[in-house]
Amino acid sequence: QMLKLSLEQIEKGGYEHFMLKEIFEQPKSIHDTMRGRLLVDEGVIKMAGIWDHLERFKNANRIIIIACGTSWHAGLIGEYLIEEYARIPVEVEYASEFRYRNPIITDKDVVIAISQSGETADTMAALKLAKEKGAFIYGICNVVDSSIARITDAGSYTHAGPEIGVASTKAFTAQLTILTLIAFKLGKHNGNLGNAEFMSLIAELDAIPKRVEEVLSSTHEQIQQIAKDFISTTNFLYLGRGYNYPAALEGALKLKEISYIHAEGYPAAEMKHGPIALIDENMPIVIIAPKKGHYDKIVSNVQEIKARKGKIIAVVNKGDRQVSEMADYVIEIPETSECFSPIVASVPLQLLAYYIAVYRGANVDQPRNLAKSVTVE
Ligand code: AGP
Repeated sequence: QMLKLSLEQIEKGGYEHFMLKEIFEQPKSIHDTMRGRLLVDEGVIKMAGIWDHLERFKNANRIIIIACGTSWHAGLIGEYLIEEYARIPVEVEYASEFRYRNPIITDKDVVIAISQSGETADTMAALKLAKEKGAFIYGICNVVDSSIARITDAGSYTHAGPEIGVASTKAFTAQLTILTLIAFKLGKHNGNLGNAEFMSLIAELDAIPKRVEEVLSSTHEQIQQIAKDFISTTNFLYLGRGYNYPAALEGALKLKEISYIHAEGYPAAEMKHGPIALIDENMPIVIIAPKKGHYDKIVSNVQEIKARKGKIIAVVNKGDRQVSEMADYVIEIPETSECFSPIVASVPLQLLAYYIAVYRGANVDQPRNLAKSVTVE
């Protein structure tokens, strides 16, 4: 027992929990995901899995992304990325729904499964179904040689390193990094992404580990303070638009799975269609509002919340005025192109969930009722 404890402490590298260690590893894990793939000086993205099957992707009628949980959230952001930059239609489905609804799949479809563990039963079964129907199946997995990695026709590993905390953090940002590389590579190849824009996007992507490093060091202490005010809260809303709508879903999932506080993520504009009825002075609302991407629309959503006395925790860019003036708490993230904002915005939301859970005395690395990989349906 003693030996086990000390080994575990060594593995945690001085952090109190694996989750915190993994949150702080993200500058490195994102860098590792891009290593050998993103060659900025040569203006090239090298990905064997895509390169060897470029024609399959180019001629695809559509791409279907299947996944569960956090990986499904990454898939939703993948839809925004691939549709914007490669202009290939993308659908994103929960693996468990896809496999049981007799989906229409042909040999013109490319099906991408996203799975940290590579062992999720529903994702595996959905992939097998797609394969039987003739689709080209592609895997984005973190665990090397996992079951999903082995049955796919091709794929890309995220190379985020082992993720021990049940709540996915660094695997998620690594999945976003891979999806970004795929979107840029396909867009460059099929001519939808011009050379100048491609060059400037890849240079920005290359610097994302630095941006994540900045956000970790500038928000870490502040978030511990903010978290203290929400220890007894029973509900949370997370809102975002565009690329940050899935980031809001992911922020809410992080909070509910480790702190056991009920949290819902919503596209900000959907608020009017129901959830606005929940807003009063007891409802904290995390709103992701970077400058690039529907900012003016978000401002009016925040005004609506303010009018109903909701407690606003705003994730904004440095120097933001309009949203910040209305917010009760302001968390600043560096300004990036919209497509990278879910990566930088997710980091403080991971920290917020982590500290609220820790202050509530929850077992953050092994939350109740949850397993790291769900190998039964
Ligand atoms: C993430 O924090 C969750 N624990 C969970 O939703 C997870 O993302 C889901 O079970 C999918 O796992 P996978 O990526 O290993 O397939």
